Amino acid sequence: MASTSHFRTLIAFLLATTSFPCSLLAAPTGTYTAPAPTSLLGFNPANGVVNADPKNIKFTLAPGQTDSAVIGAPLDFNNAKNPQPIRGSKGGTDPGPHTDKYSQLNPDRLAPPGTDHGSVANAQWPLELSHAKLGLDRAGWSRGQNIDNIPVATEMAGVDMRLEEGGYRELHWHKAAEWSYVLNGSVRIQAMNEDGQTFVDDLSAGDVWFFPPGVPHSLQALEGGVEFLLVFDDGSFSEDNTFLATEVFARNPKSVLSKNFKVPISAWDKIPPGALFIFPGTKAPKNISAQNVTGTAGIVPTQQSYSYHLSKQEPTFSLDGGSIKIIDPTTFPIATKFSAAVVTVKPGAIREIHWHTTSDEWNFFIAGSARIGIYAAEDAAQTFDYHAGDCGYIPKAMTHYVENVGNDDVVFIEVLQADHFSDISVGQWVGLTPPQIVIDTLNLTSETVSSFKKEKQYIVQGDPVA
Ligand SMILES: *[C@@H]1O[C@H](CO)[C@@H](O)[C@H](O)[C@H]1NC(C)=O
Ligand SMILES: *[C@@H]1O[C@H](CO)[C@@H](O)[C@H](O)[C@H]1NC(C)=O
Ligand SMILES: *[C@@H]1O[C@H](CO)[C@@H](O)[C@H](O)[C@H]1NC(C)=O
Ligand SMILES: *[C@@H]1O[C@H](CO)[C@@H](O)[C@H](O)[C@H]1NC(C)=O
Repeated sequence: MASTSHFRTLIAFLLATTSFPCSLLAAPTGTYTAPAPTSLLGFNPANGVVNADPKNIKFTLAPGQTDSAVIGAPLDFNNAKNPQPIRGSKGGTDPGPHTDKYSQLNPDRLAPPGTDHGSVANAQWPLELSHAKLGLDRAGWSRGQNIDNIPVATEMAGVDMRLEEGGYRELHWHKAAEWSYVLNGSVRIQAMNEDGQTFVDDLSAGDVWFFPPGVPHSLQALEGGVEFLLVFDDGSFSEDNTFLATEVFARNPKSVLSKNFKVPISAWDKIPPGALFIFPGTKAPKNISAQNVTGTAGIVPTQQSYSYHLSKQEPTFSLDGGSIKIIDPTTFPIATKFSAAVVTVKPGAIREIHWHTTSDEWNFFIAGSARIGIYAAEDAAQTFDYHAGDCGYIPKAMTHYVENVGNDDVVFIEVLQADHFSDISVGQWVGLTPPQIVIDTLNLTSETVSSFKKEKQYIVQGDPVA
């Protein structure tokens, strides 16, 4: 055995030091120390340890961090020096390596509330960590989230897209249904359905659109450009897997195209050889009527309109702690299965603990900082942190709350696959259960139980985080 290992050492030494004529075996530049001593293997009294000095770990704890772990209040590490994985009596110091910015953004990952338990599948993804797809000639970009980022997100996926003024998302279609919420600016959308009915509309921030599976559509940014969020009813959706107008023409023989359209082969001389995806174009005419092309079938009937001017709708509920604007197929019928709520949660307030009975929830944070605590049977719970530009995913039946942990309003969108927007409020549920059952189950006083509300609250105001 010893001779074999010496042989190997010799070969390694030769490979590292000998200049072979063959450049494949060229030695690296720099110094070489050989061979590594075998005296370093395992216990050897000659190899003493080096003790750390705990005084070298300098840190300050965030307000509330030493409170009993089950209180689990939000922690703000922004003014804490060297954030530490400590909650109440639990945890310990972290000498490093670490990057404070991650802990400041995700305090509930570093120092989870003591009520967290077991494992819950990842429920958070910052879209800024997605690999961006950059459009041509500065015309825009897109970045997406799908099951690659949140593996449990099987029912829905999302994309954030920017188009500069005049920029196009080229004519395309896909197998998934597409629901969209405009985040900034304005956009012209157009489409045609199976019956040859056409559609064109201009939308601005806060409006929504929907394109059914297979319906071809295009988008062009109006003055000032546009940014929008897309949600698809397929967790594995990818922007790299759409059917494109350019490819229909580039991937069919020119002789076939000529026969199909009854034009000479030379008509196709200058077609793009492949996808354009996002590219700059001639600015859209200001007067939308100029792009209102109709055939004998006319336009898509209003009842089946692909757009809904949600920005002009009043909130469904205006509450002390914020507001909630619901948009679902009862008012936007073409978007079958897409039920959503645009929720504003004021500082200190909480979107109450609830669950959705039949659908997973895909969500996106438009503004502010929040945390979501998810309870997933059995006996598992975890807390995740969210900021503007993050998306999240909560599987059906799991309880969750959305707590504003910052000093600004939190605005987020909950999207469900359901024929109407609904949830079960934990507060309303226990408020409408015979008190004796609640008292026996939770060991509460009758005074506490009698204070429970019988109505769904949606959002509950509380004290802002100190
Ligand atoms: C875009 O929209 C977001 C969310 O409403 C907002 O915070 C941001 O200020 C807007 N940006 C511009 C340039 O208007
Ligand atoms: C397009 O033309 C139709 C009539 O053919 C009209 O009903 C519809 O309002 C027009 N739409 C726009 C956006 O101008
Ligand atoms: C837009 O164009 C239509 C048809 O070309 C015309 O009837 C209408 O007056 C125009 N609207 C404006 C605001 O210029
Ligand atoms: C209920 O609370 C009382 C104290 O008020 C405690 O003694 C008792 O053990 C609790 N029961 C359960 C089942 O936790």
